[in-house]
Amino acid sequence: MARHLITSALPYINGIKHLGNMVGSMLPADVYSRYLRQRGHDVLYICATDEHGTPAELAAKEQGIPVAEFCAQAHDAQKAVYDGFALAFDYFGRSSSPQNHEITQHFARRLNENGFIEERAIRQVYSPADGRFLPDRYVEGTCPHCGYDKARGDQCENCTRVLDPTDLINPRSAISGSTDLEVRETKHLFLLQSKLQHEVEEWVSRHEGDWPQLASSIARKWLTEGLHDRAITRDLDWGVPVPADTWPELAAEGKVFYVWFDAPIEYIGATKEWSDLDPENRDWKSWWYQADDTVRYTEFMAKDNVPFHTVMFPATELGVREPWKKVDYVKAFNWLTYYGGKFSTSQKRGVFTDQALDILPADYWRYFLIANAPESDDSSFTWEHFTATVNKDLADTLGNFVNRVLSFSKKRFGEEVPAGSAPGEAETRLGEQIAELLAEYETQLEALQFRKAAAALRALWSAGNSYLEEKAPWLEIKTDQEGAALTLRTAMNLIHLYAVVSEPFIPTTAKTMREAFTLTDDTATWVTPDEARALTAVPAGTPFTVPPVLFAKLTDDDLAAYKERFGGEPAA
Ligand code: MF3
Ligand code: ZN
Repeated sequence: MARHLITSALPYINGIKHLGNMVGSMLPADVYSRYLRQRGHDVLYICATDEHGTPAELAAKEQGIPVAEFCAQAHDAQKAVYDGFALAFDYFGRSSSPQNHEITQHFARRLNENGFIEERAIRQVYSPADGRFLPDRYVEGTCPHCGYDKARGDQCENCTRVLDPTDLINPRSAISGSTDLEVRETKHLFLLQSKLQHEVEEWVSRHEGDWPQLASSIARKWLTEGLHDRAITRDLDWGVPVPADTWPELAAEGKVFYVWFDAPIEYIGATKEWSDLDPENRDWKSWWYQADDTVRYTEFMAKDNVPFHTVMFPATELGVREPWKKVDYVKAFNWLTYYGGKFSTSQKRGVFTDQALDILPADYWRYFLIANAPESDDSSFTWEHFTATVNKDLADTLGNFVNRVLSFSKKRFGEEVPAGSAPGEAETRLGEQIAELLAEYETQLEALQFRKAAAALRALWSAGNSYLEEKAPWLEIKTDQEGAALTLRTAMNLIHLYAVVSEPFIPTTAKTMREAFTLTDDTATWVTPDEARALTAVPAGTPFTVPPVLFAKLTDDDLAAYKERFGGEPAA
């Protein structure tokens, strides 16, 4: 069985993420990892905070604390939210780790030895008042394209065009506000991606057939436009230093690598962090080095990250001329919008992951988000859709089924699973249907089709409801006690099956459901087709308890309150 390496795009250190970030990277990666682990695969799910770059430095400055301290705090704050979402990373690292420093420098040295790095003198904005160069967001000014007067040196937020700090009209320092800026020559390292164009093209053409269309079309577009050489160093304090043994002059000037150079390398760095922590953790290198035939590597990300993962990072890895593992499958997502518009921090529109957990437990969000993941197109979050989905799928279809079956059985037959008569035609039909739906659910999860997997899971839950309606044990019991007992025992077996197979989506609730039964040896991590057909994992006589209501029904008042708090209208 292949080993599965899974990563989700590293969340930038700056700020708590919104639900759109969650559904486009970490959450589906977690669902997939959990599923594969349950099926007995050897899985390593790695993520980390992406900590370098100007936004981190500027945010630290704003808070008046050293950037290292800012990142340490912000890392812990993000990690706490991800724990709250029950994301079961094998490791959640930090791109500022010594391990990432070491591997990033190693990559740079190798690229240099292989002729893929060149020193070039370029013109950069320098601020005498600040006594430093001002890269990227350290310069603000007027966009030459659209006239927006708060454009940043790396990009105009208004027209989204990518900029160079020297493009800005009326530039000013984002640190001091000084407008006394000059352009000075300074040396930087350039990664000669143009020299790698053919190799990357060749590598992409061997893989894109397996990738989903969203990923391969973006990769193609970038290759068609041609790979450009790009500056991979910056004049910043915070970052991976340029190694002095190779570039003494640049190192002395305090240059560090650009955040987008070291961030993807942190996938490897974080694996080493994990490995270094505990000798039990399998050697990090076995996941990344000469692992082509033994490891299947799947990456999760939103579409804006696709060029970096399908073209630029592979170019780096190819240029290193060492057998580093490259991605096998790129799962890319479109955008989750908020009422059709952008989630916006500054305008306080949309829902942030910490706020979401303040309102409702993680399973509500996990289910809704995955069931509506922006896979084939953008999808829109609305409170109306969210509350309706929670009420229908989670509270009615799943939660109510569980509580109704267990409370009724307890009331009529006591606190042990009743035996009842032998299974009949209805049970045979149900078993067939469950086995079929389970196969569909597995197929969709294997194919990383999350919406379809959610639909199959929902269909499994619905099948239980249909069976219960058909058998109506609350009527049956009046004429046929044994028949009603059979119905309830079968329904309780469905509950146990739901507990096992719903775990990737709703791990906390799944645990509660499973723990309702006191089984002596309840170690099953998945359900075989035969077990699904038989529905006998929970035998008669098994003690059980009735758990509290699994999912609260959301009221019109709740809906109104959410909309009031978060803004619930289409973007202007
Ligand atoms: N931090 C980036 C973002 O938020 C993603 C980095 S992914 C990595 O868009 F591979 F580069 F780490
Ligand atoms: Zn603009």
